[in-house]
Amino acid sequence: MNKKGFIFDLDGVIVDTAKYHYLAWRKLAESIGVSFTEKENEQLKGVSRIKSLEKILEWGNKTISEDDFMKLMAIKNDDYLTYINKMNKEEILPDVNRVLEYLIQNEQGIALGSASKNARTILKKVNLISDFNAIVDGNDVEKGKPNPEVFLKAAKALGIAQEDCIVFEDSVAGVQAANAANMVSIGIGEQEILYEADYVFKNFTEMENSFLIELIKK
Ligand code: G6P
Ligand code: MG
Repeated sequence: MNKKGFIFDLDGVIVDTAKYHYLAWRKLAESIGVSFTEKENEQLKGVSRIKSLEKILEWGNKTISEDDFMKLMAIKNDDYLTYINKMNKEEILPDVNRVLEYLIQNEQGIALGSASKNARTILKKVNLISDFNAIVDGNDVEKGKPNPEVFLKAAKALGIAQEDCIVFEDSVAGVQAANAANMVSIGIGEQEILYEADYVFKNFTEMENSFLIELIKK
């Protein structure tokens, strides 16, 4: 059996934490008088915490001191963590377990490639941490998506060539990062948003094991 590297983004792919990021950023943005809707939120998917706050300030034409910047980031993260602390394995998105089990059965490399600094906490909360052979997250990278660093590091940690890796992503920045890494990019979400991906599925339920085995055999 061929061995490929399957690299999963976390937020919005494995768990629906994208909604918690949205709630926490919206609350923070509104507290400083910046309007924040789903449209702005889409542009923050896959984007690091620092970059996200920079963008919000830019949209609202705000300049603040470095001290206040750090404070706002901490407020957002504390708020976000109140949601995360309540998570359990019921918040794993549909069919993620089936896909992971199938890949494990077929002895494939499985890695996490996430911009989040909370990735390990979340994987532990939903009891998935032991399914991953490698974890690369926001603590391990200097350049955020769309830079391919996170996925290149994940491939390296798996010991699998980057051309033999497949990335699951719900964000535009993440799909672009996978493409830049010369990996197969699979968008999880809407075709109109993720059209740069090699394949797009609405969710994992739409992705059959026969598709996975084709990727493995390629
Ligand atoms: C993911 C999410 C982003 C989030 C980033 C950093 O990529 O899609 O919305 O801003 O991680 O997450 P963190 O948990 O470190 O704030
Ligand atoms: Mg994501």
